[in-house]
Amino acid sequence: MLRVYFHGHSCFEIVGEKGTVLVDPFLKENPLADVLPEDFTQLDAILVSHGHGDHLGDAIEISKRTGAPIIGTYELTWHCQRLGAKVHAMHIGGKHEFSFGTVKLTQAWHGSGFETPEEPDQMRYAGSPCGILLQMDGKWLYHAGDTGLFGDMQLIGRRHPLALAMLPIGDNYVMGPEDAVYAARLLRPKMLIPMHYNTFGLIEQDVDEFVSALRRKTPETKGYPLKPGEHLDI
Ligand code: NI
Ligand code: MN
Repeated sequence: MLRVYFHGHSCFEIVGEKGTVLVDPFLKENPLADVLPEDFTQLDAILVSHGHGDHLGDAIEISKRTGAPIIGTYELTWHCQRLGAKVHAMHIGGKHEFSFGTVKLTQAWHGSGFETPEEPDQMRYAGSPCGILLQMDGKWLYHAGDTGLFGDMQLIGRRHPLALAMLPIGDNYVMGPEDAVYAARLLRPKMLIPMHYNTFGLIEQDVDEFVSALRRKTPETKGYPLKPGEHLDI
């Protein structure tokens, strides 16, 4: 059994039989997060979709303290390593087997600037943003990162039958609820957790409306709107 905790915004903690990973740990600066970086003492990896502050978040601090590697694209992990984190660099389309499971990075239509604390007025190049496919305990999970809708989501779902998809619904910077419902039709996951909404005013959404649209239009996918701190067993 896999236990998937939602910690607000796009942050998830996934606990499997062979290990625990954290995805996009935006905690200290997120008033809605239910945990703090120091709550994590033992992790097998920190997966980061792109360089924006609401995803990279506290990853470097958590990596330094726990020794867990940050897994992400080559360009993003290059910055993290320079700032003292342990890293494992990958890139889109590549997969790697870790002790906790398998990670494969996918494309995401978004940006990935990196704001370094030493140069607060500069945004550094951090490569392409990505989505994350994760296989743990024989189940495929897909964390879309920040992205707009794209047709190859169908290919992602076909190649990796998905137990769970974590999709942004906040609009403005990422897919809105209608495109996320369409994304579910392409991906065909058994379960879906909406993310990247209601953290601040610009991305406020009616999540109950999203879940009922999903029920009407994609009945094979069940929506689970988790509150920070809640979990789903898959
Ligand atoms: Ni972003
Ligand atoms: Mn974001």
